[in-house]
Amino acid sequence: MMVVERIREVRQRVREARTQGRRIGFVPTMGALHAGHVSLIRAARADGGFVVVSIFVNPAQFDDGRDLEAYPRPLEDDLEVCTREGVDLVFAPKREEMCPDGPKTTVRVPGMSETMCGAFRPGHFDGVCTVVAKLFAIVQPDVAYFGEKDAQQLAIVRRMAADLNLPVEVRGCPLIRDTDGLATSSRNVYLSDQDRRRALALSRALLEARDAVVGGERDAGKLADAVRRQLADAEGVETEYVAVVDPDTLDDLECVAENVLVAAAVRVGTTRLIDNVLLRDLGERGGGG
Ligand code: PAF
Repeated sequence: MMVVERIREVRQRVREARTQGRRIGFVPTMGALHAGHVSLIRAARADGGFVVVSIFVNPAQFDDGRDLEAYPRPLEDDLEVCTREGVDLVFAPKREEMCPDGPKTTVRVPGMSETMCGAFRPGHFDGVCTVVAKLFAIVQPDVAYFGEKDAQQLAIVRRMAADLNLPVEVRGCPLIRDTDGLATSSRNVYLSDQDRRRALALSRALLEARDAVVGGERDAGKLADAVRRQLADAEGVETEYVAVVDPDTLDDLECVAENVLVAAAVRVGTTRLIDNVLLRDLGERGGGG
């Protein structure tokens, strides 16, 4: 496995892989790799391409300097995971390599970036889009793999790639849960045992919403209210938002039809957690009421 810090070297390695007839699969990360990232790497490996993983804690997507400084950076462990999973190239640039004289250009998808998490983290998705656009320009992947755990990020990156005609397929991969139901996240390491138990209210409420939709509930307001009620009853859990939206446009739904994303963000102690359930092609499954 190659580990490189320089943009010029990534380009050279990718060019060599292409010369050998390989397609490029790309998994952008901020490190602290967990089972969710591993599932993305495995999806890329299964597609048989040259697999590139980037590890870069992107300052532009943090609205709070303390959060940025505290973000876990276990690079050695991450490299072990990448080696074990058969990654071909890790791009782990220093901050100066990615933004040598500070950021000037911003890539922004208005509207979609200001709802849900965007309402609580102003500028966050501008930072995400800008760094992802840069990473796409550096790695030039055929396919980029993103977790459905960050469903809003996935929808926004897809929209950015479509609007800018970027020649990359943005592929969503299923959210991965730990055995207790908690969605995997690099931030879960911040949770004490008690907070982790409390945090399970989030996945419980969302999975019940999923069951309700599967059972035929189509009233988005009722779904959102039920999730809000459960979270309000949970000790130590503070709700930021509950949204029932179209997973592609992030528009609020009144009535669930084909596709639905039920997403929520909470704070447990000082840790912010997001989770969601995504259902597609409901029309084909029937239901109603
Ligand atoms: O999902 C993440 O880890 C980050 O937002 C990403 C896509 C690597 C951009 O920094």
